[in-house]
Amino acid sequence: MTMLANLAPIPELYVSYESAQKLKVEAGNLKSWDLSPRQICDLELLMNGGFNPLKGFLSEEDYTSVVETMRLADGTLWPIPITLDVDEAFAESLEMGEDIALRDQEGVILGTMTISDRWVPNKAREAEMVFGADDDAHPAVNYLHNHAGKVYLGGPVTGIQQPVHYDFRARRDTPNELRAFFRKLGWRRIVAFQTRNPLHRAHQELTFRAAKEAQANLLIHPVVGMTKPGDVDHFTRVRCYEAVLDKYPAATTSMSLLNLAMRMAGPREAVWHGLIRKNHGCTHFIVGRDHAGPGKNSAGEDFYGPYEAQDLFRKYQDEMGIEMVDFKHMVFVQERAQYEPADEVREGDTVLNISGTELRRRLREGLEIPEWFSFPEVVSQLRNRYPPRSQQGFTVFFTGFSGSGKSTIANALMVKLMEMGDRPVTLLDGDIVRKNLSSELGFSKEHRDLNIRRIGYVASEITKNGGIAICAPIAPYGSTRRAVREEIEEFGAFVEVHVATSLEECERRDRKGLYKLAREGKIKEFTGISDPYDVPENPELRVETENVDVDNCAHQVLLKLESLGLIAG
Ligand code: PPS
Repeated sequence: MTMLANLAPIPELYVSYESAQKLKVEAGNLKSWDLSPRQICDLELLMNGGFNPLKGFLSEEDYTSVVETMRLADGTLWPIPITLDVDEAFAESLEMGEDIALRDQEGVILGTMTISDRWVPNKAREAEMVFGADDDAHPAVNYLHNHAGKVYLGGPVTGIQQPVHYDFRARRDTPNELRAFFRKLGWRRIVAFQTRNPLHRAHQELTFRAAKEAQANLLIHPVVGMTKPGDVDHFTRVRCYEAVLDKYPAATTSMSLLNLAMRMAGPREAVWHGLIRKNHGCTHFIVGRDHAGPGKNSAGEDFYGPYEAQDLFRKYQDEMGIEMVDFKHMVFVQERAQYEPADEVREGDTVLNISGTELRRRLREGLEIPEWFSFPEVVSQLRNRYPPRSQQGFTVFFTGFSGSGKSTIANALMVKLMEMGDRPVTLLDGDIVRKNLSSELGFSKEHRDLNIRRIGYVASEITKNGGIAICAPIAPYGSTRRAVREEIEEFGAFVEVHVATSLEECERRDRKGLYKLAREGKIKEFTGISDPYDVPENPELRVETENVDVDNCAHQVLLKLESLGLIAG
């Protein structure tokens, strides 16, 4: 009996171990390109056969054909352009036919590529055709216009070694490793489940049903390469998957991690995912509601219809050689205490549902997440990763004129927070920072910005690690404060406090005698006197210090923190 097509070995682009050793030394002399994280993901799947039949980054002819017709120039179905984008200077330095080394971010040579094509793509057209709209609200369109290089290079790739992964190594499999695993276990029909989210009960129900329907074994095949910005990080997700895996019968279900860089291209992406799963030895593929959906466009509407991905997949599935198992949205029906497809729910039934947004709200506020929704093990992983706000790190950022009282209030606040004692507190006071972090800096715009950026960086690290950072520089420039806010808000709250003491009052107090010197021209570029200060437009809090004592000012900040949920009431 011949081997089933899905289980036979699939071609890879790697050379033998001996040749790789030799090639690696030779490639050291080639011009080299340092791959971006997304390009590393693409290269890995090119080399290991995950993107079979591609033999390298697309040529111009194949690219145009894929963009316009979803097919390579020879007619083979391929929906997503796999291109090597580079900057103009690098592109211009190359000769056609030249070999280049492809390096990872540490400089390790993963493969080489023979340059056959170099062209400037029409990115607007690519966006329209592949992603359905030239709209930067789409993460892949944003990437295309704002991150990808201007020039594309095409040509065949020779694989030297796999990209190195230090995390979850035992859970990662190449297409051939999975095919060998299926052969060894005697699995012939395999249904793959693609996911970029933690698995909850609805997903488990859906995958159980899919396996039953297809009479197939189940492969949970989550993406750990690049997913939608803002998704739960893959470290947390994999711990969740491992917890859920215990709830499946081990003899029929397996899990493997896929280092794919998703594009969130909805319908085209579903077809791409199907082809990739076929290459990984699967015979069936689950496509649910809004598969690989990118969210809303800049007009606030969905980029794709909820079942558009299923429709496109259905159209091509015979040609693809992998069958779709389609699913409607699954919901929990209270009367029968079970999950059912939304379109099978009977009239009068009570349907329970928790959206992604609602789940995030409950985590943030430490509210109940019911057993019907998820598994306790998964919830505990998520709670661990997303503690309620009152246990997260945050930054309080005081800004105001010299002598406005920033440091005094900041010190009082620090002491009050230390009295509470639930999180470590660090004070980054203007003067202290200038002694320790920024001793070489002066007060030009450039130096002030550098100073604030350094404070922002340290505060973001403190916030990320669950501590409280209190910053108290003058920080006169609004744009710089905004940049710091954005950096910190990735990890926790940023509470801007404008200490709104007037310049006249600061000058009248002149606690350090600096205003006098500034007026006499003995200190140049003095904020308020001979240098600008952008008054914060929308700070979380503005405190007046005239006729108010320090303790009360600090107390106002505490009340603000409490109302934001950052300290427990
Ligand atoms: S900035 O703009 O945010 O980088 O300034 P910052 O690091 O907070 O300034 C710290 C203290 O430097 C003293 N000082 C000056 N301030 C403003 N302009 C000039 N030219 C200047 N020269 C020295 C001033 O005392 C600041 O202290 P605070 O704590 O704000 O009174």
